[in-house]
Amino acid sequence: MKHIAVFASGQGSNFRSIYQHVTETKLAAEFSLLVSDRKHPGAADFAYEQGIPFLYLNHKAFSSTEEYAERLIKELQKLQVDWIILAGYLKLIPADVVKAFRHRIMNIHPALLPSFGGPGMYGHHVHEAVIASGVKITGATVHIVDEEYDTGPIVIQQTAPVSFEDTPETIAQRVLKIEHEIYPQAVAWAIQDKIKVHGRRVEILT
Ligand code: GRF
Repeated sequence: MKHIAVFASGQGSNFRSIYQHVTETKLAAEFSLLVSDRKHPGAADFAYEQGIPFLYLNHKAFSSTEEYAERLIKELQKLQVDWIILAGYLKLIPADVVKAFRHRIMNIHPALLPSFGGPGMYGHHVHEAVIASGVKITGATVHIVDEEYDTGPIVIQQTAPVSFEDTPETIAQRVLKIEHEIYPQAVAWAIQDKIKVHGRRVEILT
């Protein structure tokens, strides 16, 4: 039985689609905790409906990042969390947490990394940059989380077309649909221990 912790700051649509897929396909996993840097993210409503414990942690309430990380690691290890799934979570994961959960944290990014990623590249900022750059395809990326924003090894990607008429909103909608397809797939692979990281590259075991 794999124990999953989800980190979310927003509406939680990725959380919902992952939960639904894992539940419907009866994978050997349980959602042990939802963590957020926000007091009432939409994701917390869903967690409440499913009886999943919710932990609000404001890193500003701690005297240092190390102290915040220590509390986070303690909570996660208490629940024997195997994988941390960032689903619309906007904060950088402290290095101590990345170390404690090396290659066991994943994130979804609404573009084809390494393009259009890094600090400040989230939500509509990503899609505005995509339009301004004139690229003809965009998409979504699931990657392993390391100590920087959006730089970890890529697990799965899927593309979407960009037309001249597109706006950041139309692209966001198209990409979100893709996120809801590829993230559940990536989490299913994680639950089945099929993700093998080789430096910058990821092998999916069959
Ligand atoms: C999504 O666009 C995702 O790419 C990004 O956060 C946004 C909101 O996700 N990481 P959700 O609807 O809260 O899952």
